[in-house]
Amino acid sequence: MIASTESMPLRPEAEVQLDANGNLRHLLTLKGLDKALLTEILDDSEQYLTAPGSLPARSQSLAGRTVGNLFFEPSTRTRASFDLAGKRLGADVLNLDVNTSSRKKGESILDTIYTLEAMQVDVMVVRDASAGVPAYIARNVDDHVSILNAGEADVSHPTQGLLDLLTIRQHKGAFDELTVAIVGDIRHSRVAMSASQGLATLGVGELRLISPPALAPDPEAVPEARIVDNLRDGLDGADVVMALRIQRERIGNLDGIPGIDEYFANYGVSNERLELAKPDAIVMHPGPMNRGIEIESAVADGPRSVITQQVTNGVAVRMAVLERVGRTMSAK
Ligand code: NCD
Repeated sequence: MIASTESMPLRPEAEVQLDANGNLRHLLTLKGLDKALLTEILDDSEQYLTAPGSLPARSQSLAGRTVGNLFFEPSTRTRASFDLAGKRLGADVLNLDVNTSSRKKGESILDTIYTLEAMQVDVMVVRDASAGVPAYIARNVDDHVSILNAGEADVSHPTQGLLDLLTIRQHKGAFDELTVAIVGDIRHSRVAMSASQGLATLGVGELRLISPPALAPDPEAVPEARIVDNLRDGLDGADVVMALRIQRERIGNLDGIPGIDEYFANYGVSNERLELAKPDAIVMHPGPMNRGIEIESAVADGPRSVITQQVTNGVAVRMAVLERVGRTMSAK
C-alpha cells in the first residue's frame, strides 16, 4: 500500500470515482458501483460491437482529447485494447514506453503524472504492481483528468470485470439463475476480484471460487462467494467456467503450490472435467493462457470457449468507459 501523507481520512475509492452528480469520473474499482451504472456501461458497450469481418465501430466522441497508456507491468490485451479504443473514438493516444521512461531513473509516479498533465493528457490508463496506485493518482490529479485502472496488483481490474460481465450476459442473459465457477489462483487474481464484485452487484445466483488451499482468497475479500478446494464440487452444474493463470510473479514463496502436473491433474479445466458442468456451459479465460496447466488446449480452442469474444468485448467495454469519462469531463 502507498502511504498517504494526508492527515484527513481518505474518501473511499468507490466515492472518489464518481463526481458530485454521480457521473463516472475515474474507474478504479467495480466495488461500490451500482447495478444501474454497470448495466448502462454494458449496454453502451454493445453499441461498439459490429459483425465479425465488418469494420469496427468508430465515433469522434473523444476527438481533441488525449489518452495516455501507462503500463508499469506487462500487458498485451489490455494495453492494445485501450490503444484501439481511444483511437476508434477519435482521441490522440500516447503509449508511454515505461522501460525508457524517467520512472526508471527514480522519478516518482506523481511527477510522471504531472508531466503528462502539463502536456494536456486527459485520461491516464494505469497498470501497476502496487496496490493503491490508481486511487493515489486519482486523488492527486487536476479536476479535468480521469484515471482508469488497467490492473492494480492483486486488487482490481475493473475493465476486465466489465468485459467478463458483458461476455456472460451475451451468452446467458440474466445473472440471477447462473452458477459461475472461477478456477485457479484466486488469491493473487485481480481478475477474480473484479469479476466477483461485478457479479455480486448484478445478482449472480451462485459464485464459486475454486483453488488449491494455498491459492484460496481471504474470505472477507469476497463475502459473496463460496470458496471451494476441489474441481468436482466447483464445476458441478456450472453455467460459466473461468480459468485463471497462476500469478507466479506475485508469489514470493512457492511452498504449498502444486507443481505443473499435479496442478493440471487437480485444477486444470479439461473436456473431461467439463462433463460436470452444464452441457451449455461457456469457458472463459482473461489471457495470457498457460495451456496444459490451467486449461487444456482442446477446451481453449473448443466450441464452449468464448475467450476470443472476451478480447473483442474488451475493446467495446473500454470504448464505453472512455466515452463515459469523456462525457463527464465535457459536462464540467
Ligand atoms: C490479466 C491481468 O493482467 O490481470 N490479464 C489481462 O488483463 N487480460 C490476467 C493475468 O495476467 O493472468
